[in-house]
Parts: sequence; structure tokens; C-alpha cells
Amino acid sequence: MGKFQVMDHPLIQHKLTMIRNKDCGTKDFRQIVNEIATLMAFEVSRDMPLEDVDVQTPVAIAHAKQISGKKVAVVPILRAGIGMVDGILDLIPAAKVGHIGMYRDEETFEPHEYFVKLPSDIDQRQVFVVDPMLATGGSAIMAIDALKKRGASSIKFVCLVSAPEGVKALQEAHPDVDIYTAALDDKLSDDGYIIPGLGDAGDRLFGTK
Ligand code: URA
Repeated sequence: MGKFQVMDHPLIQHKLTMIRNKDCGTKDFRQIVNEIATLMAFEVSRDMPLEDVDVQTPVAIAHAKQISGKKVAVVPILRAGIGMVDGILDLIPAAKVGHIGMYRDEETFEPHEYFVKLPSDIDQRQVFVVDPMLATGGSAIMAIDALKKRGASSIKFVCLVSAPEGVKALQEAHPDVDIYTAALDDKLSDDGYIIPGLGDAGDRLFGTK
């Protein structure tokens, strides 16, 4: 089973509380989501392999380290996942960015894939799939299905708020995928919202409500 990690760093928890507040407006919501994503990327990238390298400093040769191994691809699930991309790129600026478009059927909550555009070497990359909300897990599972179908094999899922139902479904469907979340909330409502959650992340990010 992959790792399941709730990121309890005080800065992450404090910022998450700010965006849960219904009075947090679009501008602040957008900025803070990116800030949380940056802080999460720091931890999500913790197990990146290092290699030894010699570097000439102005004084002498230093026996130093540099990141080796797979390059990163950040793959937001449209549309709310886009809100986390810039925050991750602040730390990993050379990462490539793919996009997977999913929409939820308003009645059945079933996810449908409508757009997939990925870096051509996705099979060689460490992929961070990002979506602020892990609710039923349907979109995350389908997005990771789409990635694996195209050869991706090293995948981590990063979200802000998760529901136990979604975590369980994602772990069952993709036990090899590590899940990182800033909070594990109580449950899903009958209409598919995470309780207490933060509402519709896409609407709050883009000001569409
Ligand atoms: N998607 C959201 O944006 N919010 C939820 O609470 C659940 C799914």
C-alpha cells in the first residue's frame, strides 16, 4: 500500500484554515492555495534521489549533492487542480505540466475524461497529480488510469482536503500511489461535497459562483 500522509506542518494547517473560511475571497483563496501547494511540494519531493557531485566553489572543491533520477511532471486535474500548479513550480521550476480534464456528472457524480495532454516522456517522469479536493476519488482514479495507460508508473497524488471515502477508493484502485493531503475531513455529503471541506474549490479559485 502506498503512503498516506496528512501534512500537519503549522504553516499548512494555518493557511488551510484561512481558505476554509467562507469569507475568504477569490484573490486570497487563489494565493493561499498556491502557498499551501508550495509547502506541500517541499515534503512530497523529500524522497527524490540525490547523487554526489563535485563543484568548484570560489575557495575549493566541495563534495556536494544534486537531485538525480526522474524529472518531475505536474498534472493538474482540470479545473481546480490548476490552482496548485504555480505553487509547485515555484519549488520545481523545470517540471513539465500535463493536463487531464475531468467533469463530474451533476446527477450521478460519475467522472468523465474529456481532455488529456501530457509531456511525451511521461513514462520517464515522477508524476505529481494535483487536485485540491479528494472527494469520492472518482476523478483521481480516472486521471491516474489515464496516466498509467500512457506509461506513467511513478505517481503521487497531492490534495488539500480529503474525505475518508475518497482515500479508501483511491488506495483500493491504485495501491502503488502515495497520497499527500493537508487534511482528512469527516465525510461526504449526499451531494458529493466534503464535510466540512471548503466548498467548491474550482468556483472559489476562479470566482465562478
Ligand atoms: N469538489 C469540490 O470542489 N469540493 C468538494 O467538497 C468536493 C468535490
